[in-house]
Amino acid sequence: MKILMISSEVLPFAKAGGLGDMVAALAAELARHGHEVRIVLPRYYSVDSGLLRRLDRPLGVPLGGEEEWCAVAMTTLPGTEVPVYFLDHQELFGRDGIYGTKTEPEFSDNLRRFTLLCRGALQLAKLLKWKPDVIHAHDWPAALAPVYLNTLERDGYFADTGSVLTIHNLAHQGIFPKEEIEHTLIGWEQFHGAGFEHHDSLNLLQAGIRNADMLTTVSPTYAREIQTPEFGHRLDGLLRHRSADLSGVLNGIDYGLWNPENDQHLPSNFSAGELDGKAGCKAALQEVMGLDVDPNVPVYGMVSRLVEQKGFGELCGPTHGSLYNICHDLGLQFVILGTGDAWCETELESLAARLPNLAVDLEFNEPLAHLIMAGSDFLLVPSVFEPCGLTQMYAMRYGTLPVVRATGGLVDTVDNYDEPTGEGTGFVFDLLTPSAIYNTVGWSLWAWYNRPEDIAAMQQRAMAKRFDWEVSAARYAEIYQGALARRSGAVLRTW
Ligand code: ADP
Ligand code: GLC
Repeated sequence: MKILMISSEVLPFAKAGGLGDMVAALAAELARHGHEVRIVLPRYYSVDSGLLRRLDRPLGVPLGGEEEWCAVAMTTLPGTEVPVYFLDHQELFGRDGIYGTKTEPEFSDNLRRFTLLCRGALQLAKLLKWKPDVIHAHDWPAALAPVYLNTLERDGYFADTGSVLTIHNLAHQGIFPKEEIEHTLIGWEQFHGAGFEHHDSLNLLQAGIRNADMLTTVSPTYAREIQTPEFGHRLDGLLRHRSADLSGVLNGIDYGLWNPENDQHLPSNFSAGELDGKAGCKAALQEVMGLDVDPNVPVYGMVSRLVEQKGFGELCGPTHGSLYNICHDLGLQFVILGTGDAWCETELESLAARLPNLAVDLEFNEPLAHLIMAGSDFLLVPSVFEPCGLTQMYAMRYGTLPVVRATGGLVDTVDNYDEPTGEGTGFVFDLLTPSAIYNTVGWSLWAWYNRPEDIAAMQQRAMAKRFDWEVSAARYAEIYQGALARRSGAVLRTW
């Protein structure tokens, strides 16, 4: 099949979280299965245009009342033949930040920016005379694409093109003042009909959910959760309505990039059979983070966006059981790598200044992320909600046991430790409270000191576990077929 992916993040060009990893890995796997995949994303300022090949012709994109002109540059996804096209528009993308910056977390012209991405991707397909069977849109920045297919592009070039929308994070919906609909060129008469209207504002993700032929999200548990008021971010009703078209397909991870046996970012490599190198990574991690180099103290790591979603509200709060108590009371070392909300960064810095066994690095640092996965004994992921989560899967591959809250993809990937049998691949708790985090970290610590044989067996099990893309990519291919059937009218719309 011919698949056009539209995304605001694609590894290694632009990444704020797991979305970039997912899009690149899925595209590569689909290409291995023989599908023809092309990807479109913005040419952010951070993408070095010296490494890209510029297309001869510029691309005209209708935006508001104007025709905007973009240069188009391209390259291939590393290690594949998958073409990646970059829309290069100085005014909208020639700046730091994907969605915003530290001082301006959301750019005020984001609607225009991502309208240009979606409409531009469609225009580009026409320019290239490459008609996709399916457009696969990721999250709200790409959610206008399925809306265009059902409105302005209903009967033309894309009349036979199906659409799939993947929800990576329902909390981010792309909500804008309703007047901004004019940038999309989708008329006011479609404000309700196309599903934009949400509490008198314009909601891009909602419109995408209304219009895409098929919907997916990134784990089976999250697919169920988002149909409930607790996790539905006010779209649960609509998602229940489209339940029959919504699939939860678990993300895989790219074992080419995340493999302790040949990871170039590590001072020493290791495998399940030969774990010595992991001790070397632990010592190196303790050293670079300024902690005592001591193999006998367990290291807990986190690699995360520093936002409420990831449990930092609970960790940074004043309630007993928070990060302060964990580090102060328990015999462990703690390492956090992340960037995010200012309140969280400030709080973590102040905690680290008070606690000698807590080391915090507030930057985006890919090599250090690998070292934390390899050198830690445990990885904490206490999320409020977690559509899939990749770090717990990376950790397992590196023999680092995840300590996670039972939500979303964390449920689907981590098996709780069973004390009587020693089974499991990690430590799981249900209720998100500071004391539950504290107690579960304490439980894992107890096992580390008192049941070393169970910890060793869990490590082996975790390292042997595989979250391959092969199965999930095959599932996406089926979903693409379903979207095509919908578009052609062979299968009736149910909504
Ligand atoms: P989310 O997409 O919600 O942020 P995921 O677990 O799916 O959560 O993906 C997070 C990705 O971002 C992982 O690849 C993780 O290693 C990476 N990451 C997050 N913060 C940083 C950071 N500060 N430095 C390097 N990598 C990071
Ligand atoms: C989102 C989610 C995360 C998921 C990632 C990739 O950012 O928060 O759970 O792993 O997308 O699908």
